[in-house]
Amino acid sequence: MKILPVTPESLKEGAEILKNGGLVAFPTETVYGLGADAFNAQALAKVFEVKGRPHFDPLIIHIATIKSLEKVASLTLLNEKTRNKLFVLAENLWPGPLSIILPKNEKIPGIATAGLQTAAIRFPAHETAQKLISFSTGAVAAPSANPFGSLSPTRAEHVCDGLGNKIDMILDEGPTRIGLESTVLDITGDVLKILRPGGTPKEAIERLIGPVADGSSIVDDSTAHASPGQLKSHYAPRASLNTLSREEIINKVIEPNTAFLFFDGATRDVWLKTQKPQELFVLRFLSETGDSMEAASRLFETLHELDKHQVSRIYAQLAPNEGLGTAINDRLKRGEKK
Ligand code: TXA
Ligand code: MG
Repeated sequence: MKILPVTPESLKEGAEILKNGGLVAFPTETVYGLGADAFNAQALAKVFEVKGRPHFDPLIIHIATIKSLEKVASLTLLNEKTRNKLFVLAENLWPGPLSIILPKNEKIPGIATAGLQTAAIRFPAHETAQKLISFSTGAVAAPSANPFGSLSPTRAEHVCDGLGNKIDMILDEGPTRIGLESTVLDITGDVLKILRPGGTPKEAIERLIGPVADGSSIVDDSTAHASPGQLKSHYAPRASLNTLSREEIINKVIEPNTAFLFFDGATRDVWLKTQKPQELFVLRFLSETGDSMEAASRLFETLHELDKHQVSRIYAQLAPNEGLGTAINDRLKRGEKK
């Protein structure tokens, strides 16, 4: 396996690997993806194997132009009203951290979509990702480049630690900008639904196409689930994670071997005043000013780092539940073990 900086040569080499059925990890604006040619069933099977990902959990297909939708989706299966909404979303929010569930076409093998007739399609806002996609076949299936159930990678080193020798190449372009995954929006049913909150806030979608429902209920791992990708143990750090409201974390006292992860600097300061600092502990915060965009970009990064500290428990403060705060809270709650 090679880790290469992004150059015209490494991009070309990566595209060749994809065309030949290999796996290339690459940066997007959200997290690093593990790419395979979306039209090649064997390459897609390798993605599931390498990640240890269950076959019922479908992949996101990445494209690099709106026009490429025709290569991967059957838009004629959508009614006119839905098709119009799709184009409003695509023209305003693509490229960007939004995956839209659409009817797939026959060229996308069933393994990509876990046998579903729909596929999640995304046009990432990242030049390297776009070039890699267009230099290969124009459609790259890419889950986050981490072993199934663990934290998503926001740096090439995270990919290397998790999947290192199992893949052909990692294109390294430093930390990702948004730091958590795309919003997954289902527009195929009568009710438009967010299946996974992410980098595009619900409010931005609703401004364009009206109300959308919250379909991102967290499903217990042991039960069967209609909407894949809602497994509770997704995005889990090694330590036990407990989420707390602002009031709860302010009242929590230091315990040995425990990390405190604050959403904002003000809450941290209130908490610090009441603590006896003689105990050893790890303290982190996501945004000094409580900016949810900054906090989102530091969430996985900080959890990866806390994993290295070998703390046994993390108390994490929930974000205000709006904008990107919704996605932060979703990931924190999914990271909680019972
Ligand atoms: O930001 C992202 O979306 C990153 C980067 C690499 O683009 N990718 C990513 O992929 O997060 P992954 O595989 O980790 O998550 C894909 C999510 C899962 O929750 C999956 O269940 C859902 O999308 N999904 C994919 N296809 C679907 C479908 N046809 N119906 C419902 N959910 C689907
Ligand atoms: Mg993932």
